[in-house]
Amino acid sequence: MNDFLDTRLETARCRLRPWRMEDIPLIPPVANTREISWNTSFRFPHPFDEAAAERLVHWSRDGAGGDKWQFAVFLGGKLVGSCGTIRGTDVEAHTAKVGYWLDPAHWGKGLATEIVGELVRYMRDETVIEQLTAVCFGWNPASRRVLEKTGFRQEGLRRGVVRKWGKLTDLWIYGLLL
Ligand SMILES: CC(C)(COP(=O)(O)OP(=O)(O)OC[C@H]1O[C@@H](n2cnc3c(N)ncnc32)[C@H](O)[C@@H]1OP(=O)(O)O)[C@@H](O)C(=O)NCCC(=O)NCCS
Repeated sequence: MNDFLDTRLETARCRLRPWRMEDIPLIPPVANTREISWNTSFRFPHPFDEAAAERLVHWSRDGAGGDKWQFAVFLGGKLVGSCGTIRGTDVEAHTAKVGYWLDPAHWGKGLATEIVGELVRYMRDETVIEQLTAVCFGWNPASRRVLEKTGFRQEGLRRGVVRKWGKLTDLWIYGLLL
């Protein structure tokens, strides 16, 4: 039994737990929107169908608790998004990269700040990870703000390295020593 898969986290309004197979049909109605994919890597596709949901859940459970800590986020019992980390490799194996997304119907209520704050606490208190990295596309000021509100500092800016759906932008790099 992998202890991580039993993990339960709570914020003031949300419950977080590792993804389960039974979540697969719940994901497309929340994730199938260009508003999320526009701000994420191609690993978060659009359209986001049930096959994509299945890939997400399987991927999240492969290495869970060792080199991946991925959570489904529920508000009032309803799936509203996700947050999680992926461990670095080689000389960066003590670090992890943070990612998060929410159903646009719930943007602007401070939920991302709440869940990323709890994710940071969890990674600091309950894993061996010592540093968190996050990256944001240049056209995503809301995400930069979430990182600033949860203790990250901007560490760099890579100009013109992101091309998504034909549009070019910068990549903002953030870090947090735990
Ligand atoms: C980024 C995302 C998670 C934010 O979720 P959220 O719950 O709306 O975030 P919060 O409400 O906690 O905080 C958003 C902050 O950004 C600010 N903000 C929102 N839009 C903004 C804009 N266009 N310009 C500047 N600030 C903006 C808000 O005012 C708020 O800051 P404040 O509390 O100081 O007022 C959500 O927009 C999302 O899922 N986006 C798509 C996926 C994504 O971008 N993931 C992150 C990849 S790096």
